[in-house]
Amino acid sequence: MPGAIYAEGLVKTFGDVRALDGVDLDVPEGTVLGLLGPNGAGKTTAVRCLTTLLRPDSGKAVVAGIDVLRQPNEVRRSIGLSGQFAAVDEYLTGRENLQMVGQLYQMKGRAAKARAAELLDQFHLSDAADRPTKTYSGGMRRRLDLAAALVVSPPVMFMDEPTTGLDPRNRQELWEVIKRLVAGGTTLLLTTQYLEEADHLAHDIAVVDHGRVIARGTSDQLKARTGGERVEVVVHERHHMATASEVLAGFGKGATTVEEHTRKLTVPVTGGAKLLAEVIRELDVRGIEIDDIGLRRPTLDDVFLSLTGHVAEVADEGNGSADDAAHEQEKEAAK
Ligand SMILES: Nc1ncnc2c1ncn2[C@@H]1O[C@H](COP(=O)(O)OP(=O)(O)OP(=O)(O)O)[C@@H](O)[C@H]1O
Ligand SMILES: [Mg+2]
Repeated sequence: MPGAIYAEGLVKTFGDVRALDGVDLDVPEGTVLGLLGPNGAGKTTAVRCLTTLLRPDSGKAVVAGIDVLRQPNEVRRSIGLSGQFAAVDEYLTGRENLQMVGQLYQMKGRAAKARAAELLDQFHLSDAADRPTKTYSGGMRRRLDLAAALVVSPPVMFMDEPTTGLDPRNRQELWEVIKRLVAGGTTLLLTTQYLEEADHLAHDIAVVDHGRVIARGTSDQLKARTGGERVEVVVHERHHMATASEVLAGFGKGATTVEEHTRKLTVPVTGGAKLLAEVIRELDVRGIEIDDIGLRRPTLDDVFLSLTGHVAEVADEGNGSADDAAHEQEKEAAK
């Protein structure tokens, strides 16, 4: 049986841009899928197709058991959506915005009021509740938009970059809200550029690039594909890097990567803490002073880099950005 969110071969083109190039998704009920991808990968387009805001050129989508293309109105009644750009009425207050959403969903006046007050409190907006939202900061709007998506608790939720623009405290709190929501049985698809967020919240991750799902699995499965643990060393003196690199090569199970400007060397290893102790001893014997050393598992950053060839959270359109970053590093190193 297909999951609460199901897509098969979704294609959407804008002129000669193939924003979606055959996307397949399947999200089991009560789980969170993290859609991860660089700018322009097609995340928002996928969300818009699944939430009836955009009609795909071809493919199939079923949400909450309802065919998205055939019964868009029914789908709309079963989903909640928080878009990438906050959709609140500028001239209404925060409270009025939330009450209006309740009424759109046929809540009784009193129930809509109570729910609005509860959400304003939960999202730390009580103090600003009775001001027009055009006076809100970016983070406040974002929070109000998320609160609006949660007025009723639909079985399936979509959140497009829910925490972009939130400060760390508000981000943490939103994560807690999301966890409670999912614990209550909601199925959630969220897009994010924050690998840490996907790591934290998503049961499954689909990595999207150029309109296609290029990898999927749990965070652990994706990390395992990138190899085992690494030793990371920051040496104190730049002129010690070559020797340190030699030492690491002796212990490594693969190529050592060297970041000149941060004086950081990384090498994949097997052998854990015992091996780490040996590396430290050997560096000491060779008289190499170190600022930092540690054993770390591959992060989703490593996964992302190895899959897409570019680092996450770059603000431009992707192509060539890894090269640009490398050039920046070279320039830094040359100073
Ligand atoms: N309405 C539109 N008209 C023309 N091109 C569009 C339109 N919407 C999206 N695109 C193009 O489709 C591609 C995918 O865009 P989309 O917004 O889905 O990416 P995204 O993964 O959400 O990126 P971001 O991380 O920047 O939000 C991009 O090349 C974009 O320029
Ligand atoms: Mg987007």
